[in-house]
Amino acid sequence: MLKIVYAPDPMLKKVCEPLSQVDDHHRDLIKKMFEAMYEANGVGLAAPQVGINKRIFILDSGAREEEKKPLIMINPSLVSIDDKTVSYEEGCLSFPEHFAEIDRPDQLTIKYLDENNKKKTLTTDGFTSRIIQHELDHLNGILFVDYLSRLKRDVIIRKMKKFKKENNSSNDKKI
Ligand code: NI
Repeated sequence: MLKIVYAPDPMLKKVCEPLSQVDDHHRDLIKKMFEAMYEANGVGLAAPQVGINKRIFILDSGAREEEKKPLIMINPSLVSIDDKTVSYEEGCLSFPEHFAEIDRPDQLTIKYLDENNKKKTLTTDGFTSRIIQHELDHLNGILFVDYLSRLKRDVIIRKMKKFKKENNSSNDKKI
């Protein structure tokens, strides 16, 4: 099982590299990313969150429901995005147990490659659009806490440092 990188970590602040072509190695990575995302009860996961500096993310707006809707986006780029913003409570697998209301545009159109190197375009809004914007940010080293006030961000980062410390020491005990 892939290990999810917790914030704060320099890996999460890097701008990721585009793929020249999707190969079996990437398809294997994507399969493992889905396993890690579903295991962590997440709805989206970007490659840097598993320590890979590539422009790949996955999402499934139906991950917590019966009907799964897996999507894979490679080298994604926004074609257009709404002016109108909506507020929604976001979380992130790199920030377990932390949530915050974030304003983002609603409708967007995005183009990307799928796992078979096919060019795709998707226009969407609501939850799917929200996840896409959050994951796209990950590929540019932007985290949801970056939209918060410095005070709120610092509180979360401090708690995450403590959480990582405790997690590491409990892992040590197991060994
Ligand atoms: Ni995230």
